[in-house]
Amino acid sequence: MNQDEMKQAVAQAAVETIEPMLQDDSIVGVGTGSTANYFIDALAAIKHKFDGTVASSIASAERLKNLHIPVFELNSVFDVAVYVDGADESNHQLQLIKGGGGALTREKIVAAVSEQFVCIIDASKIVDVLGTFPLPIEVIPMARGHVAREVLALGGDPRYRQGFTTDNGNIILDVYQLEIRSPEELEQTINNITGVVCNGLFAARPANQVLIGTATGVQTL
Ligand code: 5RP
Repeated sequence: MNQDEMKQAVAQAAVETIEPMLQDDSIVGVGTGSTANYFIDALAAIKHKFDGTVASSIASAERLKNLHIPVFELNSVFDVAVYVDGADESNHQLQLIKGGGGALTREKIVAAVSEQFVCIIDASKIVDVLGTFPLPIEVIPMARGHVAREVLALGGDPRYRQGFTTDNGNIILDVYQLEIRSPEELEQTINNITGVVCNGLFAARPANQVLIGTATGVQTL
């Protein structure tokens, strides 16, 4: 199985995992990225079993609408039964780095309001210590220099994601050279830097389940 096939298999497994959690009036949170896209495609098969979705990006909302799956604004729904999304890294505590696709802020908001967060990844993304994948930080454009200097002081190597604007109109700094041994602490420290909108550590609110697509099938962490 190649990486794409693993992503597809784990996305299908996510649909089977969440189906028993859903009722007619349930809302499903939907993430962003290539694995989330496979999930959206698989979700279409059970779209009659729940009310609709909230999406963590404009791109995912468009994909859902193209498959005639209803998409609601988060502010117009009462709660979200389950959120399904990919990740760039997961440790064994189900803490994640997300934001490779730049949708981290909306992803974190949807995760925060969801009762369950099912993360879907391929086996290459499991790590002992987070930080090999550069940590994305969404930053208000005028604070770019300030945030970069603060991150340097924390031992990271911040790089501006050229030519990219988030759905919220902000920029992304990708931070290299971090060996993240205390994810919750670092998540909070970075969030406290003025000008930071959000960072891609999902440690204070980790996943409830991580489904891993491997060459021999889907495993649960
Ligand atoms: C987007 C994300 C994605 O979930 C993450 O980048 C993984 O993407 P993919 O499924 O394409 O490997 O956080 O902001």
